[in-house]
Amino acid sequence: SGPRHLMSIADVSPAEFTSLVRNAAARKTAVKSTQPPLSLTTGLANKTVAMMFSKRSTRTRVSTEAAVTLMGGNPMFLGKDDIQLGVNESLYDTSVVISSMTSCMVARVGPHSDVADLAKHSSVPVINALSDDFHPLQTIADFLTIHEAFPASQSGSSSLGLEGLKVAWIGDSNNVLFDLAIGCVKMGVDISVASPNGYGIPQTMKDLINSAAQGVSSPGKLFETNVPEEAIKNADILVTDTWISMGQESEKKKRLEAFAGYQITNELAKRGGAKEGWKFMHCLPRHPEEVADEVFYSPRSLVFPEAENRLWAAVCESMSLIYRYMILISDVDL
Ligand code: CP
Ligand code: NVA
Repeated sequence: SGPRHLMSIADVSPAEFTSLVRNAAARKTAVKSTQPPLSLTTGLANKTVAMMFSKRSTRTRVSTEAAVTLMGGNPMFLGKDDIQLGVNESLYDTSVVISSMTSCMVARVGPHSDVADLAKHSSVPVINALSDDFHPLQTIADFLTIHEAFPASQSGSSSLGLEGLKVAWIGDSNNVLFDLAIGCVKMGVDISVASPNGYGIPQTMKDLINSAAQGVSSPGKLFETNVPEEAIKNADILVTDTWISMGQESEKKKRLEAFAGYQITNELAKRGGAKEGWKFMHCLPRHPEEVADEVFYSPRSLVFPEAENRLWAAVCESMSLIYRYMILISDVDL
């Protein structure tokens, strides 16, 4: 069998996901509390990681590139004007060629089938760095952030002890939501999604999210509504993302109209009945329409630790775990 790939959080078991988050947390603590700072693993020494980005990126590029460097490897950034990624050459040809020269591909694409095609034909692991359908590296960082903000009520090897928490997603049903929702189901966290009519979760994606419950003893549940206040009721964490994802720029006017009333404000949170100590999360980049400054820059907001956690999610143990178990497959001791 070929290498293992990370296309979505759907690809990792609850125990593997828990291990990725715990490892990221442990490494973050160890590096930050040691003087001089611990040197990180050399797990990627002499290895080149091709970072193929057909869209802009601040956090994913910087965190992944820094993580590979910190692990002793060489990150090779290949932007959309540098290589033939889906342009002037088939993805098959690109994948076979690049995987013959590197140890891992990290790819940011439009249609999910592009990164899936790269993975299908690659002889090395492929990590999805955002497609139109999923953003798994974001979800690992988001659960590290939740784990830090809500210390475990119980501990176990196949969950983070977050059972009983409720996340409210207010806004567009997009790539970031889909993997977050899969993570929530696997970790026993309920997730309520409020999106306007026409911007809900497609049925096939809903099926995939709900199927993440298989084999989980107390899975989180997915709820959907068109009413933000309903989703917010009793939520511990309010989350949103831009209403206009990369590639949807031409729909801006239509979307701004459709999402009117969905901006996260203190007043909306209060009206909806969020829990008293509610927190706010956003993967960034942020636009002002989806969340008011009074929330985004408030003490409730976890957005900057969440962004920093992209590094810890990508670095060292967690990244090399992804890397190792994609190469060695099945029997890595997690
Ligand atoms: N959150 C995130 O993926 O940001 P970038 O698009 O800047 O990488
Ligand atoms: N939903 C956004 C996320 C960016 C990290 C987009 O796809 O543009």
